[in-house]
Amino acid sequence: MPTYHIQTYGCQMNYSDSERMETYLRALGYKKTDNQKKADLILFNTCSIRQKAEDRVFGQMKKIENLKKNNPKLMVAITGCMIRNSSSRYSPQRDKLFNKIRELDIALKTEDLSCLASLVREINPDIKIPKIKEENLKDYFKIKAAHNTFNSKTQAFLPISNGCDKFCTYCIVPYSRGREKSRKIEGILKEAEELTANGYKEITLIGQTVNSYGKSCYDKDNKNFEKLKNKDPFVYLLEEMDKLRKKGLERVRFSSPHPMDMSDELIDAMAKLKTQMPFLHLPVQSGDNNVLKIMNRPYTIEQYRKIIHKLRKKIPDISITTDIIVGFCGETDKEFQNTCGFFEEMQFEHAYIAQYSNRKGTTADRFMNDDVPQKIKKLRWEKLNNILENQSKKALKRFIGKTSHVLVEVQKGKICTGRNEHFKTVQFKISNKSKKRSEKYSGKIPGKIVPVLVTGSKEWILEGELRI
Ligand code: SAH
Ligand code: SF4
Ligand code: F3S
Repeated sequence: MPTYHIQTYGCQMNYSDSERMETYLRALGYKKTDNQKKADLILFNTCSIRQKAEDRVFGQMKKIENLKKNNPKLMVAITGCMIRNSSSRYSPQRDKLFNKIRELDIALKTEDLSCLASLVREINPDIKIPKIKEENLKDYFKIKAAHNTFNSKTQAFLPISNGCDKFCTYCIVPYSRGREKSRKIEGILKEAEELTANGYKEITLIGQTVNSYGKSCYDKDNKNFEKLKNKDPFVYLLEEMDKLRKKGLERVRFSSPHPMDMSDELIDAMAKLKTQMPFLHLPVQSGDNNVLKIMNRPYTIEQYRKIIHKLRKKIPDISITTDIIVGFCGETDKEFQNTCGFFEEMQFEHAYIAQYSNRKGTTADRFMNDDVPQKIKKLRWEKLNNILENQSKKALKRFIGKTSHVLVEVQKGKICTGRNEHFKTVQFKISNKSKKRSEKYSGKIPGKIVPVLVTGSKEWILEGELRI
C-alpha cells in the first residue's frame, strides 16, 4: 500500500481542504504516515498570503532533496494557494513553481484535486492505484471529508464557499482561489447533520468572506439561491443550522465575515439563534479611512463602528476580534496612530496583526509603492501588539469569578482544555471532588460542554475548576 504524508500551512480553509485531500488519497488506496522518511508521496498544502508563508515551504526543500536521494521513487506534490496551474513535471504547460523547486513532481490547484490520480500516473505509469469510481469524489465541492481525517472530535470546519471577489489591493486570495462560488445549501446541511449525528457539538462555517454566501456573481448566474427571494442566504443557512440543535448541535461559528456583508438581518440572527455564540471575528485591516480606501476595503471606520455598536446593543457581552495590516503602501505615522486609536476604541479582545508583504500580481504590487521601511513596519507591529496584549488581558479578567461553559477538546490526566462561549481557551483541573461529580459524564469529559468556574487567567488563557 503506498503511503502519504501531508503538511498543511495557512488558514482554516487549508486545513479543511487537507481533510478532503486525505479522504481522496485514501480512496486511491494511500495510507497515512506521520514519518516523511516512510512516505511515497509528500503533499504540501501551501499558503501564499505573505512571503514568509511561502518561504516556509521553500525552506523544506533541502530536506526533501535528501529524502529523494534515499528514496528515488518519492513523489513531491505542492497544492493550495501557491499553485496556479495543475501540472506534473512532464506536462507541456507547467506551473511556474517548477522553475523554482527542482524537487517538485506535481503541482495541483486545490479545486483540481480529482486530477491528482492522473498526475501521479504521469510521473509513474506503473503505479498501482485504483480508478476512482465514486461520483462524489470527482467534484471538489462534493467531496465529503471522512471524519477520521479530522484533528478534533468535538468541533468541525465546514466549507460553505470558496474563492473571493472582493479584490482588496494587497491580497493574493482572489488570484489563488479564483472567483467566489458557494456550495448548495442542501449539501452543507446534509454534511452538518452527519457531523451532528457523529457527536460534533460545534461547527464552524468557513469561507473567504463567509457572510457573502450565495451572493456572488457566480451564484446569481447559477440561480441556486433564487428561491430565497429577498432573504440573505447566509442568514437562512444559520437558521437552518440552528434547527440541528434538536439533534445535538450546540454551537455554530463562522469565519471570516466581511464588514460589507454584515447586514442587520445577520446581526439579528446572531442575537436570536441559540446556536450562535457571543463572539465575532470581523477583520477591519486599518483604522484609517484613507488607508481603507487604498486597500479597496469598501467601508469607512464610521460604518464599521456602527456595526460594532449594533452588535453590542443586541449582544451586550459579545467578544470582538479582528485582523490588521500595518505598514501598507504609503501608510503615514498619523494613519497608523489612527489605527491604534481605533483599536483601543473598539476594545478588540484579540487580533492577527500582520506586517504588509507585497504579493506578486496584486493591484498593490502593480500600481503602488511598498514604501514603508521594514524597520518601521516592525516598530508599528510591536506597538500594536503591546496594545493588543493589554486589551486581551483586560478582556480575560471579566470572566473571573463567573461560570464559563467549556466545550472540552482535550484531557491530559486531570487537566482539560477547551473553549468557552466567547471562544476563549479555558484550562481546568478535575479535582477529586469534581471527579466524583464528573461521573455524571461517565468519566469522559472531552466532547462535552461543562460548566467551569473561572478562577484566574494566565497570558492568553483562562483557568478554572469544574463546577457540576
Ligand atoms: N477574507 C478575510 C481575510 C483572509 S486573509 C478578510 O477579508 O478579512 C487573512 C488575513 O491576512 C487578512 O485579514 C489580512 O490581515 C492578512 N493579509 C492578507 N494579505 C496580506 C498581505 N499581502 N500582507 C500582510 N497581510 C496580509
Ligand atoms: Fe483577501 Fe480581501 Fe478577499 Fe479577504 S476579502 S480574502 S482580504 S481579497
Ligand atoms: Fe493562505 Fe490561501 Fe488561506 S493564501 S490564508 S491558505 S486562503
